[in-house]
Amino acid sequence: MTAPRKTVDVGGDSPYTITIGPGLIDDAALLAAPLRGRQALLVSDDRVAPLYAGALAARLRAARPELTLETFVLPAGEASKTLRGFSGAIDALAALGARRDACVYALGGGVVGDLAGFAAACWMRGVDCVQVPTSLLAMVDSSVGGKTAVDLPQGKNLVGAFHPPRAVLADTAVLRSLPPRELRAGLAEVVKYGAIVDAPFLDWLDAHAEALLAHDADALAEAIARSCAHKAAIVERDPLEHGERALLNFGHTFGHAIETEQGYGGLNHGEAVAVGMVLAARLSEVLGLAPAADGERLRALLVRLGLPVALPEGLDAERLLAHMRLDKKAQAGGLRFIVWTGAGRAQVLSDVPESAVIDVLRAA
Ligand code: GLY
Repeated sequence: MTAPRKTVDVGGDSPYTITIGPGLIDDAALLAAPLRGRQALLVSDDRVAPLYAGALAARLRAARPELTLETFVLPAGEASKTLRGFSGAIDALAALGARRDACVYALGGGVVGDLAGFAAACWMRGVDCVQVPTSLLAMVDSSVGGKTAVDLPQGKNLVGAFHPPRAVLADTAVLRSLPPRELRAGLAEVVKYGAIVDAPFLDWLDAHAEALLAHDADALAEAIARSCAHKAAIVERDPLEHGERALLNFGHTFGHAIETEQGYGGLNHGEAVAVGMVLAARLSEVLGLAPAADGERLRALLVRLGLPVALPEGLDAERLLAHMRLDKKAQAGGLRFIVWTGAGRAQVLSDVPESAVIDVLRAA
């Protein structure tokens, strides 16, 4: 029996549907449904493409024999998310002679999704992009909501655009081949939704931690759908991050500082966010906003999920603070953090005193 699919609708000016379930990459009709024209560019990386690009391309061609489909493959990893990689994708669209009704399929993790989405946003001022995320992190975060970007040497995601996808197809069967460390990294972003808006979800995650770590298909599908539903609701209300959408960055100011300081060779994004959420909870406590017990529960859940919760050895508090001053979420007024007043209740806080941040970092 085929496991049932779940869908989450994202409303707003450019509505689309997120479909979640096993075997989506084998479903020719579902894959081809978003196509408006006869041209498609499949963007992937050299780790994912050998596993799934052939099958996806074959299904698309079977559904639409008239389709002209080209493939553009990047080296796997964050180092590819550059203007140079972007320019490669644009060259591929030019070689395809892509018209305005062409469609870009982004098959991969966050790097592929962000870069392919940005190429789709820019080509002829915007063509369709179908996100086919293959990592848990991309399924629950980056493939949804239309943020697209590449990195500069000066910082992550500095050049980009908001360009909502035409559809998101999260094939949970591909998670079986996801390395355990990447699965855990994705779970950090799942925990984030509980932390910011859904305290009962934290209890659910606690009860299902073992199932999730064991790749249990039903548990993963439920966690993805619930995460996507939260993200969909938030981006529908605030697509351009003028307010509430910033809550999705809970743990990210600390996390990005750790990633930048480690030069992306240490903790991966999800791991850095896990540590960042613990620090954000601690900061909330130091500022007298939240009870210590909630922070302790969050920490315990992350430990159960096999995620780091302490600052890696040897990181200097002053240097981390310097990165936070440059964070693009920082504003003229000073340091800005997403804090919480307890599980499931996050808020944006501006003008956070540097002394409180330093205290939290030193104690960690
Ligand atoms: N990853 C945060 C956002 O999409 O807003």
